[in-house]
Amino acid sequence: MLVLGIESSCDETAVAVVEVGKKGLSVRSSLVASQVAFHRPFGGIVPEIASRKHVEVIYALCQEALREARVELSAIDLLAVTNGPGLVGSLVVGVSFAKALAYGLNKSLSPVDHVKAHSLAIFLEKPIEFPFISLVVSGGHTALFLVKSPTEHYLLGQTRDDAAGEAFDKVAKLLDLGYPGGPLISRLAETGEASKIDLPRPMLDSPDLDFSFSGLKTAVLNLVRSGRAFMVHDLCAAFETAVCEVLMEKSRRALKQLGLKRLVVSGGVAANRRLRESFAKLAETEGLEVYFPPPVYCTDNAAMVAIAGYYEFMAGNTADLKLDVYARSQF
Ligand code: KG4
Ligand code: ZN
Repeated sequence: MLVLGIESSCDETAVAVVEVGKKGLSVRSSLVASQVAFHRPFGGIVPEIASRKHVEVIYALCQEALREARVELSAIDLLAVTNGPGLVGSLVVGVSFAKALAYGLNKSLSPVDHVKAHSLAIFLEKPIEFPFISLVVSGGHTALFLVKSPTEHYLLGQTRDDAAGEAFDKVAKLLDLGYPGGPLISRLAETGEASKIDLPRPMLDSPDLDFSFSGLKTAVLNLVRSGRAFMVHDLCAAFETAVCEVLMEKSRRALKQLGLKRLVVSGGVAANRRLRESFAKLAETEGLEVYFPPPVYCTDNAAMVAIAGYYEFMAGNTADLKLDVYARSQF
């Protein structure tokens, strides 16, 4: 079965062809057209620019993805598209494009939740057993789920304010480092010493599985405004360490509460090296199985949408041409 995945929920247009067969699956192509250069001057995503750029590139990107996969459009069996959560004007572009293809090809269309797609990205690399705990950490989302099957996600906790990636981006902005902040902070943190700066570990005292990152960002802002001398790379290391510790501790508690040993960490922030290393250590000391998708499938991509759409289709979830988009998480 050949699945064409389409993703346009934020600032990346992505198209992928994923083949699912008896022997497993293979990613035949996975292309991402990043809009970062257009948003960088504004220090964040400008929704109207995002929508317009999706409109400009989606057709050519789809053709290129088919060419790279050596697949004719007519051979596609299923269309899978992200219809939320995300920027409405951006989502509408991908959804309209997918509807047009489904109508023209007379093929099924499966709607995909972007957050669920992040959770399932690991299956692009290897199959893992259910149930598991999923930690999704991206620019728009930070949440813990119990995943019982590819289509059954139960929310355990989520951020009450900023997402972890958003905190990386905001801290980078207030330090004048550029956009997006995650990779920039991560690079500087490599040569910094986290112990030189004391930052809070928000929500660790609260017994639930929720997160909060805006206080951490404010602590960085207060330090910058205080006029106290500090080295930027030490601050980056301290910030990154604080985020990692909170994410690890809440994940550990989720596993314990549900009596599980299997954890999947995904989303853009899961590309972070310190986070990957910290979780690998935790896995070793606590006898856990911790899985990270390869970094290219952690950040936004359409291969994860294709595989999530395949599972939705297998569970009987297909959409007609009235399919709408949604901005906010539905969990
Ligand atoms: O999953 P994603 O591509 O888009 C959303 O669904 O939001 O995640 C983007 C986020 C951005 O906030 C970016 O700063 C962060 O992921 N990010 C990172 C790293 N690479 C990307 N954060 C920390 N370390 C990284 N290496
Ligand atoms: Zn994402």
